Amino acid sequence: MKVDGKHFRSIWRERDGWSVGAIDQRRLPHEFVIAKLTSCEDAAVAIRDMLVRGAPLIGATAAYGMALAMREDASDSGLKRAYDTLVVARPTAINLKWALDEMRATLAPIDPLERAEAAYARADEIVEQDVEINRGIAGNGLKLIETIAAKKPGETINVLTHCNAGWLATVDWGTATAPIYLAHERGLKIHVWVDETRPRNQGASLTAWELGHHGVPHTVIPDNTGGHLMQHGMVDLAIVGTDRVAANGDVCNKIGTYLKALAAHDNGVPFYVALPSPTIDFAVNDGIRDIPIEQRSGIEVTDMTGRTADGRVETVRIVPEGSPVANYAFDVTPARLVTGLITERGVLKPDRASLAAAFPERIAAG
Ligand code: MRU
Repeated sequence: MKVDGKHFRSIWRERDGWSVGAIDQRRLPHEFVIAKLTSCEDAAVAIRDMLVRGAPLIGATAAYGMALAMREDASDSGLKRAYDTLVVARPTAINLKWALDEMRATLAPIDPLERAEAAYARADEIVEQDVEINRGIAGNGLKLIETIAAKKPGETINVLTHCNAGWLATVDWGTATAPIYLAHERGLKIHVWVDETRPRNQGASLTAWELGHHGVPHTVIPDNTGGHLMQHGMVDLAIVGTDRVAANGDVCNKIGTYLKALAAHDNGVPFYVALPSPTIDFAVNDGIRDIPIEQRSGIEVTDMTGRTADGRVETVRIVPEGSPVANYAFDVTPARLVTGLITERGVLKPDRASLAAAFPERIAAG
């Protein structure tokens, strides 16, 4: 997507052909900084410290991390070490493990001398596949938006989203934002309510930044505003992303998603989840019971970072010294609260049978 008229993806291979460039998302929206990853450890740290974040981008970064590792040590033990280092970088988004399993399946059977080249080629494929998947999500989600638009001709369609499931969270286009960008491109009148998404503020800092750069009308709202807007008919539909969807259709996403789904249910607002198929975890049968929920540092809750009027980026404490805090990064929305799953293969019912019918090759792969 475009940043000040220049096309960017969130991650890419640098001109030297081997190092990896990525936008440092910790610095947005205050500064646009490119980071260079030159080792497997760099990739692991980038994921862990949220220089990159968002389930599909975490997967893509891990894939390149494996490629970087193969330059250093392509032996069987080097492969295992890289896998083991990267797979624990963050616990909730299943795209991380999915990408690493794909890489290992390509690399393990071949001669170590061929592994580095094969790893870059497979990582590039994973990256291109993400872009293609998101194009599919864009087209399928657009149909939903067009259906709503047909019911209120000439009026603005209001979409609520939570966290950042935009192009910064994927390689390009985004998942939840893909249909929004396409609708905007096609000239539909669309406006996005952007949940700020405490404590990391992915909505306020990233989604708003993206939408602004694309000229998509949007309004940032405090996280607790969605219910009020829905009660007053100010939200036509909600679209969120996800870090892992269980085989039963339960959806794990950024903390606070569940409360938005409850409010949507209570107010008859359609609640959709945009999801690329690598985000489905067929090995998990019950999302609430079995998806591991990341708990992050309390500093994310006690401290806030922003830019002062004179342009300095500063961090300040907003919680009294000594007050304990809790920082659960994700929650699980039960399938019964989800209207539909927008995938690259169509909009699916959030249940086991529909997911299995749409992605039979994933079931067969085990
Ligand atoms: O903690 P983050 O910023 O990695 O969490 C990101 C989200 O929760 C996104 O909504 C999710 O990964 C979907 S990204 C297309």
